[in-house]
Amino acid sequence: MTCKQCSGTGWIIKNGENGKSAVRCKCQFETLKKEFFKNSGIPRRYRKCKFSNFKPETISQLKALKICKDFFKLYPFVDKGIVLFGDPGIGKTHLVSALLINTILYKGLKGKFVDFRNLLIDIKTTFDTKESSQSLIHEVMDVPLLILDDVGAERTTDWAKDILTTIVNYRYTRNLPTVITTNLQFNSPLENGFSSRFDERTESRIYEMCKIFRMEGDDYRKKAG
Ligand SMILES: Nc1ncnc2c1ncn2[C@@H]1O[C@H](COP(=O)(O)OP(=O)(O)O)[C@@H](O)[C@H]1O
Ligand SMILES: [Mg+2]
Ligand SMILES: [Zn+2]
Repeated sequence: MTCKQCSGTGWIIKNGENGKSAVRCKCQFETLKKEFFKNSGIPRRYRKCKFSNFKPETISQLKALKICKDFFKLYPFVDKGIVLFGDPGIGKTHLVSALLINTILYKGLKGKFVDFRNLLIDIKTTFDTKESSQSLIHEVMDVPLLILDDVGAERTTDWAKDILTTIVNYRYTRNLPTVITTNLQFNSPLENGFSSRFDERTESRIYEMCKIFRMEGDDYRKKAG
């Protein structure tokens, strides 16, 4: 159905104090929202995630919910991203999906959900045509709001480390907000520590860019199942 306000052009002429000016029609907002949502990369099973259907059971889950809500409220005027780390099944991906969905649907702003392991697979499969793997990495690095989900779930080869370092450095120097979830521990010297699996420089860079938060709780999947 063509918009009656703008006859489908996306623009309307407004008469203001200083004469006529062209402004975007409201229907554009709807079109953009739909397009951003479609291209957001949010996995099907997380598309219905909201802040309101997240039921915190621990204090840290409640705090994580608040951190994500506050980020959404302030965005795009945020100075730091977020890292949620902790055991599987405690709602990390749910919360960051809700954050992205809200940002797209209520603010009409663009963002991307990227499962880190899938990204590595995608880069590998496009590797034979160097150009497309470059443009894939670039698209991910450059998106206004990036959700990097489940970093460290893959086997961390040097190549995978390089990809993460490249993305992190790129976004760091450009002040682009990044939201990360991981099962790895931050600030831990142990084998499942982020710095052991990646490296200390990347970890400390992420510390500068993000609010680091440890989430605790029971595995929701096991309870539900
Ligand atoms: N507190 C919660 N309230 C409602 N649903 C939850 C909660 N925690 C987890 N879930 C649901 O349980 C499943 C697993 O959570 P997920 O976010 O994937 O965990 P994680 O990313 O921490 O491994 C998802 O379907 C998610 O929607
Ligand atoms: Mg997850
Ligand atoms: Zn219109």
